[in-house]
Amino acid sequence: MKILVINGPNLNMLGIREPAVYGRQTYEDLCNLIEEHAKAVNCEVSIRQSNHEGDLVDMIQEAYGKMDGIVINPGAYTHTSVAILDAVKAVGIPTVEVHISDVASREDFRQISYIRQACIATITGQGLNGYIRAMDLLINNR
Ligand code: DQA
Repeated sequence: MKILVINGPNLNMLGIREPAVYGRQTYEDLCNLIEEHAKAVNCEVSIRQSNHEGDLVDMIQEAYGKMDGIVINPGAYTHTSVAILDAVKAVGIPTVEVHISDVASREDFRQISYIRQACIATITGQGLNGYIRAMDLLINNR
């Protein structure tokens, strides 16, 4: 089982950005957590991050034929990007949407998720553990 974990804009700033919303754990902590879990459940994981929409589309396209599942936190592009939605639809790889914060209880503009309709599940408000839950969902979905 090969899982690609994609993080969008500003997620590299975890631990620095709005700690009251996103916590004090860093992006490096997140990567370590994901890698440790991958080892524990015996799956291969590749973790990538970009602040650029087109890069995220490229990452999804590059996963075609190589990856069995995608965990994606598109950050703010969740609420704006038809291109990322279309990329997930194009590759047809089972994908889980993750948000660290509880987006449902935040601003109105965060209530729209374009990517959601192409995902097998959405996990919000569980902090960094949401990524682990998303990996487990993909593994159990096989
Ligand atoms: C986020 C929520 C988004 O609304 C926000 O733009 C982010 C992070 C989350 O993980 O809670 O950058 O996706």
